[in-house]
Formats: sequence, C-alpha cells, structure tokens
Amino acid sequence: MGRKKITVVGAGNVGATTAFIAAGRDIGDIVLLDIVEGLAEGKALDMAESSGVFAFSGSVVGTTDWQRAAGSDIVIITSGMPRKPGMSRDDLLAKNTAIVKSVSEQVAQYCPDAFVIVVCNPLDAMVSVASKVTGFANNKVMGMAGALDSARFVHFIAKESGASVRDISGVLMGGHGDSMVPLPRFTTVAGVPITELISQEKIDELVERTRKGGIEIVNLLGYSAYYAPAAGAVKMAEAIVKDKKSLISCCAYCDAQYGVGGGFVGVPAVLGAGGVEKIVELNLTDAEKKAFDASASHVKALVAKVSDLL
Ligand code: LAC
Repeated sequence: MGRKKITVVGAGNVGATTAFIAAGRDIGDIVLLDIVEGLAEGKALDMAESSGVFAFSGSVVGTTDWQRAAGSDIVIITSGMPRKPGMSRDDLLAKNTAIVKSVSEQVAQYCPDAFVIVVCNPLDAMVSVASKVTGFANNKVMGMAGALDSARFVHFIAKESGASVRDISGVLMGGHGDSMVPLPRFTTVAGVPITELISQEKIDELVERTRKGGIEIVNLLGYSAYYAPAAGAVKMAEAIVKDKKSLISCCAYCDAQYGVGGGFVGVPAVLGAGGVEKIVELNLTDAEKKAFDASASHVKALVAKVSDLL
C-alpha cells in the first residue's frame, strides 16, 4: 500500500502548522493548497527541507492548483477567516460559509473519495456546509473541535493534578463554542475519574477555562490559536490513515444518537479506515444531557442560518 495523500486547504497559521505536524509525523504525502500565489509553495518547500532534519519520507508540496490535490485520501479544510478579539466564532458565519462552500465544491470535483476534516469556525456549522456541498456520505465528513477542546481540558488537568498528560484522557461533547460540554465523570487519570481526584470547585474552574480556551488565546495573540488546533486535526487524520480505531471527541453526524435527529455536533466517535466508524453513546446524567441538548440546539440554530446562505 502506497503512502496516503493528505491535502491541507489553507496555508495560514492553522493550515501550515497542520501540514508541518502531519509531515513530521510522516503520515503521508502532504499537499498544501492556498489561493495566494507563492504562499503554500514557499511554506511547503520550507517544510520539505526540514525532512533533512526530521527524516520523514513523505513529500510536502505547495500549490494553488486543485489538480495537484486530485485523488486525496484526506482533505483538511482550514481556510476561512480567523477570530479577532471581541468576535465570537459565530461572527464568522457568513464569510466562512462562502469560503467553505467554494472549497467543498473543489473537494467534490477533485477528491471524490476523500475523508473531509473541517477545522474552520463556526466549526459545527461549517462541517454541515461541507457535508451539504460535497454530498459525501456521513461517515466521511467530520470536524475537528473536540480533539482540541479535550486536549485543552487534559492540559489544564495535568497542570492542576501533577499527573502525566499521558495518563489523562478527556471526553467532551456539544458544539465548539461557549456551550461545549466537558465531561469530568468520563475524564480520567489512568482510569480514575477526575471527580475522585480534584475538588468540584477546581473542576468547575477547569471546565470554564476549557470553554473559554479559544478566546483566552485570541486575547493574548490578537488572533486564533493554531498549534493545538493543528495537532487535533492531525490526530484525526492519523487515526483514519492508520486505521487506529481511536475514540476521539469530534464533530460527527448523529442520527438518532443522543436524540440529535440528524445533524453534526461534537460527540465521542471511533475514527478508523472507515472515517467515523461509530458514535459512542454515553449514559449521561440529566444535567449532562441538558447541557448537551442546549449546545446541540445552538448548533442547529446556526445550521439553519447557514442553509439560508447556501
Ligand atoms: C479555538 C478556535 C480556533 O478554539 O476555535 O482556539
């Protein structure tokens, strides 16, 4: 079996970092695509030259030409406007809908068999745009948010508890916004729920910091985060490329699951060679279910607005 072909659309901070991490982890041949002449070509060449240090064997190519992306196994869509201070992710809706629509049309034409991982905001609504425009099967279209949000939660827990990040795994559900639902009961240190290890008051603080993790960085930098978001996107791509059957919190299509009734929202899902292979249904408490329902309703309202724009 040859190397997989992974196209990253958008050579801005998130896209370039995604391509760089994916190349460094040698998960396939990377195509970095952007509409700005020279941008993807320059960054990709720079990355390719780092293979002399990191000794990865996949290629990294930058281009403005969709034909170079043809036949990709995975397309990661990062193009779109990032947030500035004072903006919510939802403020990006109209502009990014137009961008993701046009990118998705190219994906459908040039990469008809690809798995699509959407990274731009507002995340859950943009996944829905990619799904509608490509017409791809529901297991093939997904969004990266939970991998980032749960990574933030895990990082904060590691710092608070002194435990190794290697031992901590976190689960998080709902939309990628202030209504996201970190799930402390299902977040463990080597199998021990954090509710056994950290005070409720402290957990509440960490949950709140996780919910606001994006804006914390926007306020420091003046624009959106990109290292951890890129790492999250590569984690998902790697799970598919290597058929890892990894349980990852991500934005996936739910039919009857969690009572969503058809729509994309953050849930724990098994990712492998079949893309989203399974949605894992946790037994939620009433409070958790209520928080998830509220978040899912918020996502549905955004998706309804998007449908008017398509
Ligand atoms: C964040 C932005 C990328 O959460 O949504 O950092």
